[in-house]
Amino acid sequence: MKAVAVFPGKHVAEVIDYAEPRIEAAMQVKMKILEIGVCGTDREIAAFEYGTPPDGEDHLVIGHEALAEVTEVGAGVTRVKVGDLVVPMVRRPCPHATCQACQAGRADFCYTDDFTERGIKQVHGFMTEYIMDDEQYLNVVPAHLRDVAVLTEPLTIAEKALAQIWEVQQRLPWGCPPLMSKVTDDAATNGRLNDEAHAANTSTNISTSIAAYCHKAVVLGAGPVGLLGAMMLVANGFETYVYSRAGSDDTRGGLIESFGAKFIKAETHTVEQMAQEVGGIDVVYEAVGASQLAFDVIKVLDTNAVFVFTGIPGRKGAVEIDIDAIMRNLVLKNQIVFGTVNAARSHYEAAISDIEKFEQQFPDAVRGLITGRFKIDEALPLLRQGSQGIKSVVAVN
Ligand code: BGC
Repeated sequence: MKAVAVFPGKHVAEVIDYAEPRIEAAMQVKMKILEIGVCGTDREIAAFEYGTPPDGEDHLVIGHEALAEVTEVGAGVTRVKVGDLVVPMVRRPCPHATCQACQAGRADFCYTDDFTERGIKQVHGFMTEYIMDDEQYLNVVPAHLRDVAVLTEPLTIAEKALAQIWEVQQRLPWGCPPLMSKVTDDAATNGRLNDEAHAANTSTNISTSIAAYCHKAVVLGAGPVGLLGAMMLVANGFETYVYSRAGSDDTRGGLIESFGAKFIKAETHTVEQMAQEVGGIDVVYEAVGASQLAFDVIKVLDTNAVFVFTGIPGRKGAVEIDIDAIMRNLVLKNQIVFGTVNAARSHYEAAISDIEKFEQQFPDAVRGLITGRFKIDEALPLLRQGSQGIKSVVAVN
């Protein structure tokens, strides 16, 4: 069986021959890999900047954005059956009884850093032909999502961010409800609604009035994580803007507009002009890892706004930021800035249900995110070159 592996000690990445796994325990599930997405993390691992092989081994099989089909189940398995399409989770808990997060089934909040991650940290990943996993880490996907379900894992990052945004905004007296919940008149008079929006709120146009509170979102970055985040925000009722460089790729703007977000080009709009065009930024989903840009945007957030970091900046030396202005605004405008990584089972479930919504609302756009499918033997050049198109996928079976 073929597998794509990195040997960090030797600085080698290659397709290796690898033993097919066999079921050895009651809760194990054997799966045939259908597709694996390639992301920035994989490219960093292939450049030997990130990633750790299992203890005592010299290599790591990479790949963590998987879609697989169940081919065999252990005697005790009840959650999945042969033929099911599944997306496996990435992170596994640390062994420490004192880690409340892992003990609570939330390894995504692990305190000890001794968690493992498939294809990333101390456990082999999914860029191979067959894999094995415990059923508790598998999420069943409806069969009709076969063509797009490989996007589930990168979307889970955005889903965890959104779940936390809702939790954070519970601090607001009206709770910034997900769209379609009704806001009270009381809340309308306390918010920054103008008369027209207030009138709309008391009539049937709930969406306009809620958008006027806390539902104007800006996504930083138009890569796969940013675009998936933007689709999620649109599908969850946010007025959504994507702020990014267009570069030479002018198809991205059309894609963004096609699913109902607005594209603001960084080449033609400064951060201040972008903020003015949005007219009050309530939420920022950062998905680009550019620290200077991110902190410039933090400076122009609106009152009661939330800024979420998901990108990891490279180390490029010091950047200049206006800390006094940012700190003043954080206090005087009740702003919250937080970072988020990885995802729990509930976020996989939310991602699968949102992909289903994307398929109903804008099927061409969600399919348009996958811009290339490659064979496993073509994976190495894919990992070495910078990203081309939007999302490249290795189609194994
Ligand atoms: C993965 C996450 C993982 C993170 C850090 C990301 O690419 O999607 O699941 O936690 O890398 O290793």
